[in-house]
Amino acid sequence: MQKILLITGWLWYIGSHAVVQFEQAGYKTVILDSLINSTREVLVNIEKILWYAPDFYEWDIWDEELLKTVFWKYNFEWVIHFAWLKAVGESCEFPSLYHRNNISWSIVLFEQMEKYKIRNVVFSSSATVYDSDNQLPFREDAKLWTTNPYGTTKLVLEYLLKDYSDHKNWKVLLLRYFNPIWAHESWYIWENPQWIPNNLLPYVFKVASGELESINVFWDDYQTKDGSWIRDYVDVVDLAEAHVSAYKKIETSETQLYKAINIGTSCWTSVFELIQWVEEVIWRELPKKIVWRRTWDIGEVYANVDFAFEYLGWKAKRSIHESLKNGWRFINKKAS
Ligand code: NAD
Ligand code: WQD
Repeated sequence: MQKILLITGWLWYIGSHAVVQFEQAGYKTVILDSLINSTREVLVNIEKILWYAPDFYEWDIWDEELLKTVFWKYNFEWVIHFAWLKAVGESCEFPSLYHRNNISWSIVLFEQMEKYKIRNVVFSSSATVYDSDNQLPFREDAKLWTTNPYGTTKLVLEYLLKDYSDHKNWKVLLLRYFNPIWAHESWYIWENPQWIPNNLLPYVFKVASGELESINVFWDDYQTKDGSWIRDYVDVVDLAEAHVSAYKKIETSETQLYKAINIGTSCWTSVFELIQWVEEVIWRELPKKIVWRRTWDIGEVYANVDFAFEYLGWKAKRSIHESLKNGWRFINKKAS
């Protein structure tokens, strides 16, 4: 029998890529998104890749009655939980908005899942839960801490899910993403923020395409290889594939489960390097200025990914350079 998964918050960046990977691997996905940070255009684009549109419900996960309806209608065994507000700066300005949307509404979702005995969950966690004082590269058993309300909501959810796992026998995998970048190879779906991007790479591309004037580099005098900060960028399709591996792992495990798994590459890339790689692809230098850092920024972040390979058999395969070239070709084609 075909397995049916509920995917919350699928309709924008990472969720849409995960839907494509699951559908192409033979699973049926049902999608729930409030469209607070997305548009139906993504559904149309998914249809261009798959040649059909998965079932979609424009709902907020706080809506208990609607959750019951959908749980009643489909025989779910699974939830992949992406629905989230994720702008770190906004979370510092409006903490309660983040607490409510990310924590309170997830509690409503979990309550209904337990009622309907849906006890398998893959949760989108984040590298943001690690204390920056940990030794690099970060391992899953490193100390946890957060510097902003967004990060707090991720950490709280990790603990809430532990309670369900310990006391209600849920099988839970927490995927701690590092810095997801890029797009599906068709370029029908990609990271395309509706407003001015917070994240580095979409910002750089908007400068490259002339939509924004100049790149703000958040300081250049840190104790790193070139003075700018270091991240672990992972291709979003690789990351989406990690969800299918996580699903298969849970499916084949008999007992209750609770594990955190880093999803990154273990490669460390500085801000200047990433910008330079884009410049090499577009054959010109981009305007940039050095500005002071964001209050929540932390210096060096990259993953130890041994456990992902050992436990899930998953490893990132795609090269950033190739993706950058494809990305620029795509942007040019769209512009012409
Ligand atoms: P996104 O903003 O592109 O997608 C999140 C989706 O959730 C949006 O479509 C939004 O409309 C929907 N949503 C938000 N609140 C909702 C609610 N209450 N009910 C229903 N739908 C709701 O974000 P993304 O980059 O695809 O991130 C997906 C998940 O991965 C999030 O949980 C995010 O915190 C996590 N994550 C993202 C990154 C990153 O850099 N993109 C890194 C680590 C973790
Ligand atoms: C990358 C690097 C910036 C923009 C954020 C969240 C994190 C996770 C992923 C969800 C940093 C520098 C950036 C710019 C810059 N999200 N930068 N100029 O901060 O590593 O992580 O997204 O979980 O929680 O905090 O990603 O892409 O914003 O920044 O110099 O305009 O680029 O200082 O070193 P970050 P990012």
